[in-house]
Amino acid sequence: QNSTTQTLIDLHEQAAKLYHHILVNTQAGKQALNYLQKRGLSADIIDQFNIGFAPAQRLLSPFFKEKDIDYQMLRQSGLFIEDQEGKLRDRFVDRVMFPIKNSQGKIIAFSGRLLSTENTDMPKYLNSPETTIFNKRKVLFNFDIARKSARKEQKMILFEGFMDVIAAYRAGVINGIASMGTSLTEEQINMIERVTSHLDVCYDGDAAGQNAINRAVALIGTQSSRLELGVVAMPVGVDPDEYLQQNGPEKFQQWLKDAVETPVAFTLHFLRQDLNLDNEADQLKYLNSALRVIAKVQSPLEQDVYLNQLVSEFQLNKESLQAQMQQIVRQTA
Ligand code: GTP
Ligand code: MN
Ligand code: MN
Ligand code: MN
Ligand code: MN
Repeated sequence: QNSTTQTLIDLHEQAAKLYHHILVNTQAGKQALNYLQKRGLSADIIDQFNIGFAPAQRLLSPFFKEKDIDYQMLRQSGLFIEDQEGKLRDRFVDRVMFPIKNSQGKIIAFSGRLLSTENTDMPKYLNSPETTIFNKRKVLFNFDIARKSARKEQKMILFEGFMDVIAAYRAGVINGIASMGTSLTEEQINMIERVTSHLDVCYDGDAAGQNAINRAVALIGTQSSRLELGVVAMPVGVDPDEYLQQNGPEKFQQWLKDAVETPVAFTLHFLRQDLNLDNEADQLKYLNSALRVIAKVQSPLEQDVYLNQLVSEFQLNKESLQAQMQQIVRQTA
């Protein structure tokens, strides 16, 4: 590890300490602290994740100036925005600050959330820019903690947002991770499969989340042959954090266990959700798209399970389903 890396990590550790202090000990952090308490975050959780607040007035620029930190280091840190005269201003202003750590648990970036998204066109979450220590393709929120627990549990859970990971943690599920608000990358998949053999994908219960599950499953399928996948679909309209807030920790844990399905079962549910299966045209549409999915299943046994489900649900003849599946395979070959 070279000294630039060490210095940049140091700046982040100091910034996190300062943001945290502002949040928990000062008047400037009161409103943000209230906000987090309303969202169910205890003082312990705020400490555990080292959450802080970047106030409206300048904070880091005077602090580091006083400490006589090298200007080039500050410039490279991503913690500032450079104005026309080359003066550095705090990048994060008026935001709840979530430190982002690398696999070793060192803070290398931040994501800042607005207290309110009303009457503003600024982004809800603002991430640090890419720096020499922060490549967002290679970072997963809470990975340093989750990987320790995954060694015992042999399982991780991928959520959409930081607040979902934190919600899971509050409910005693500490093996949650999240990408930086982007779709999963090859690098992240490699990180995950190095420490666990099973990943459950648990995204938001909205259309965006459901589509993202399909993309994640497809991507992992092509990138990794080792990772065994599960999908946890949330109830319509809620994300995991909202589910915890509404139902408490026991129900939350129960849901994560009971709602897990195979990626294929999830896709089959997904394909039929906007169809009226009492209508023959929709029925055929569903059967054809379902067979297209089932045809790609590698395991003959698993394939048989889904075919049998179609046989019994629609009272069909298995031979005709198989024949149709063969035809689909030939047409798409
Ligand atoms: P809360 O509203 O605080 O509960 O966050 P959320 O996690 O439910 O947010 P949402 O489902 O809208 O988005 C999921 C994740 O996408 C967030 O945790 C962020 O990482 C990311 N994200 C959301 N909005 C933005 C944005 O405006 N900019 C960026 N860069 N990322 C975002
Ligand atoms: Mn503290
Ligand atoms: Mn979402
Ligand atoms: Mn969400
Ligand atoms: Mn949320």
